Amino acid sequence: MIHFLLNQTLVREQHIDANTTVLNYLRQQKGRCGTKEGCASGDCGACTVALGSVVEGKMRYETVNSCLLPIGALDGKQLITVEDLRQGDRLHSVQQAMVTSHASQCGFCTPGFVMSLFALQKNSQGWDRQQAESALAGNLCRCTGYRPIVEAARIACEQPASDSFSQCEAETVARLQALKQATMSDIVTETSRYVIPKSCTQLASFYLAHPEAILVAGGTDLALRITQQYQKLPLMIALEKTEELLQWQETPDAIVIGAAVPLSDCQQRLQASVPAFSEMLHRFASRQIRNRGTLGGNIANASPIGDCAPMLLALDASLILQRGEQLRTLPLHQFFLGYRRTALQPGEFIRAISLPKMTLSQEFRAWKVSKRQEDDISAVFAAFTLTRGESLITGARIAFGGMAEIPRRAAACETALIGQPLSPATLERACRALEQDFQPLSDARASAAWRMQLAKNLLRRYFHQLNGELAVSEVARYVS
Ligand SMILES: Cc1cc2nc3c(=O)[nH]c(=O)nc-3n(C[C@H](O)[C@H](O)[C@H](O)COP(=O)(O)OP(=O)(O)OC[C@H]3O[C@@H](n4cnc5c(N)ncnc54)[C@H](O)[C@@H]3O)c2cc1C
Ligand code: FES
Ligand code: FES
Repeated sequence: MIHFLLNQTLVREQHIDANTTVLNYLRQQKGRCGTKEGCASGDCGACTVALGSVVEGKMRYETVNSCLLPIGALDGKQLITVEDLRQGDRLHSVQQAMVTSHASQCGFCTPGFVMSLFALQKNSQGWDRQQAESALAGNLCRCTGYRPIVEAARIACEQPASDSFSQCEAETVARLQALKQATMSDIVTETSRYVIPKSCTQLASFYLAHPEAILVAGGTDLALRITQQYQKLPLMIALEKTEELLQWQETPDAIVIGAAVPLSDCQQRLQASVPAFSEMLHRFASRQIRNRGTLGGNIANASPIGDCAPMLLALDASLILQRGEQLRTLPLHQFFLGYRRTALQPGEFIRAISLPKMTLSQEFRAWKVSKRQEDDISAVFAAFTLTRGESLITGARIAFGGMAEIPRRAAACETALIGQPLSPATLERACRALEQDFQPLSDARASAAWRMQLAKNLLRRYFHQLNGELAVSEVARYVS
């Protein structure tokens, strides 16, 4: 059985199809049709709702795409939809800000924007345009234009009013804490089951006994099988409450990130230690997706255009894998075996990702090139780490996504760099070596020739940065 708060009402569900998305649950079973379906694939934000959970004794509200959220993911959470925002006979301050700014026309996207504004207001310390744009980047509007919506965000952040949620915060925290259970919970019907282990011991033994089960971390990729391919997944194991998979540990030599840590947390926590990684996570999908999607899910997904793998390859990351009681450590470059094929054994899962700490002589940079700045998949993703001795390059880890059937290091390019000075001649040799490393494909995102040119240009950009020269885009930013 799962338990959650729908606003302030306690809901229990046990015999419900595990393939039900929260969007369909709200609209079809709860008569809450304020939450809209635009794309059912995480791209438009019309289905945005807020999930509340207790973090360090306080409520934290985050936006998620309800079209990609399995009903089981509500266990132990507070679900807030647009219907919950009204404050007695008044609109909520974020709704009023939308009205004041004339920020809605046909209104189809409006509930989604309102929920993104609600979470922005709850999490902001005042008006910050960049923060607002980031919070709204996962919501599309076809008619109003974004200027009035950003204006509504400004009003909402500058004048945050106390609301029913802040007034009930202590009570909500206590009610959610009372829902916590150490035992495995589940929902089950004759044709589907969704189990929620709370520890690695529970997870490992259940998965070993049922290796045919499908692991669900954030579900941002997996749920597309339900919403786009109309598949019915008979047995799912949720990872989001497995305690060890949510841990973040720093040792003197490494950062060890639990596989189920959401990407938005990774973005925040890596800001100080690996700022280039954190900056690139800002370009990863949208806020709604990053709030659910995990680092482990991004790796296990084994997409050739996944954003994290090239960065983790360039940072020499390893995976800690678990099967039953057995743990093993595998260098990431041995994990990807072929197109969407990995070294995971039946019943084995990624427990954590270990990032060695950088030394002062190492320089890590990464770039994502996609058609849109926000919420888009990479055409090419490049990540570079050079280790520099006094006059020569002593180590090179050059990795790309979008250039082969798996995210891969560029062995010939690395060989062309090691033992050489950081000079234009070395750079050009390394660029030519990329042609031995990759024969990229042409597809809807980019042609093969363009991908190869891009890979070389990104390596050139990296060299320019190491030499203290600004790239054209940075000059433009500096001048403006
Ligand atoms: C709109 C949209 C935009 C996106 N944009 C991007 C983007 O910009 N960049 C990008 O790289 N990706 C993007 N994605 C893809 C997806 O969001 C990411 O790959 C995400 O990191 C997947 O993580 P998850 O936790 O949601 O994985 P899930 O969907 O839960 O799982 C993905 C796969 O990994 C398996 N799995 C999950 N965790 C583990 C584990 N610990 N051990 C073993 N197997 C596991 C699951 O069984 C499943 O097969 C996007 C997806 C959508 C819908
Ligand atoms: S319906 Fe478009 S993101 Fe969910
Ligand atoms: S108001 Fe029509 S889609 Fe935004």
